[in-house]
Amino acid sequence: MRSVKSSVQGWKAAAACLAVVIVIVVQALGLGAVWPQELAEPRLDEEIAEQEKIFQRRGADVPSGYITNRGLSGYAELLPSGFCDALGRLGSSDRWLDIGAGAGQAILDYSAPEGDASPGEKCAAPGGKARAVAMSIEDRQTDKWRQQAASLGDDRIRYLSGKRLRQYSGEELGKFQIITDVFGGFTYTEDLSQFVEKVLSLLEFGGGFYTLVPGVHLEDGKDKLGVLYLTELENATGRPEKVCSWLKKTSCVQVTCESKSDWKRPTELINIRKVCSDTSVPRMKLVEYEAGYPPDRRFQLEK
Ligand SMILES: C[S@@+](CC[C@H](N)C(=O)[O-])C[C@H]1O[C@@H](n2cnc3c(N)ncnc32)[C@H](O)[C@@H]1O
Repeated sequence: MRSVKSSVQGWKAAAACLAVVIVIVVQALGLGAVWPQELAEPRLDEEIAEQEKIFQRRGADVPSGYITNRGLSGYAELLPSGFCDALGRLGSSDRWLDIGAGAGQAILDYSAPEGDASPGEKCAAPGGKARAVAMSIEDRQTDKWRQQAASLGDDRIRYLSGKRLRQYSGEELGKFQIITDVFGGFTYTEDLSQFVEKVLSLLEFGGGFYTLVPGVHLEDGKDKLGVLYLTELENATGRPEKVCSWLKKTSCVQVTCESKSDWKRPTELINIRKVCSDTSVPRMKLVEYEAGYPPDRRFQLEK
């Protein structure tokens, strides 16, 4: 009698043969090549749905690792070193967009009235503060946000929710001198290149995108052994690609990276400055996505 293990192996072999036959038939019918990630699309849909559930969790259901209320001092610690000074140089007619703002605490701190034991003083210019837009998929506005927005008036701070960055048009959002993302869209998106492309389209010339990516291969190569990566990139031939070397292939930008090998996860702090209008980001296609906070993702550079 065959053992359970050998009968399972038999089924696996049969399934593998069937998959090969399907690929041959599909190709013979002229329907093009079928890549593993396309065969796995139902699974990808499940992971994206699971991710959406994480975004929508409330109260005690919010996982402790899904932090939504970092203040401005937290942003200043996590973002590239020039962030606070750049924010401080903005004037009252300039604009700041925070993508993946959660409850928008960083913007609340920044726009708090002076002398109000303001936690935002460190990064705010005495001559007036920029208008700021907080963007989150799920609505995490607090009463404090509503009160401060009403007392500042004139749409000085706005909260946008219910959509992802890619779903807003350029006309709806306008242009910004500074765009930030702290464990927001850049860490969670399934379409990395489209995300960066969109950010660049919203930046004024000379404006800067300040962000970080946790769990990546570091530009300075000082990754510790045994690290579990969250976002893995490959070039077109399947060899590892660093997030910074990929971003540096974008036209019309200056990219600066600060590698943090001694953080809990190897993390790259990234500043992208837009220097001309014809930006073009080399396309990365999604190969794997596993929901989480943050998710596990793998992308491959298109040929
Ligand atoms: C972990 S919270 C971070 C909140 C805040 N930045 C902080 O550090 O406290 C993730 C935030 O990113 C948002 N987010 C994720 N993907 C997004 C996207 N593609 N467009 C806009 N917001 C996004 C979520 O809705 C949520 O507000």
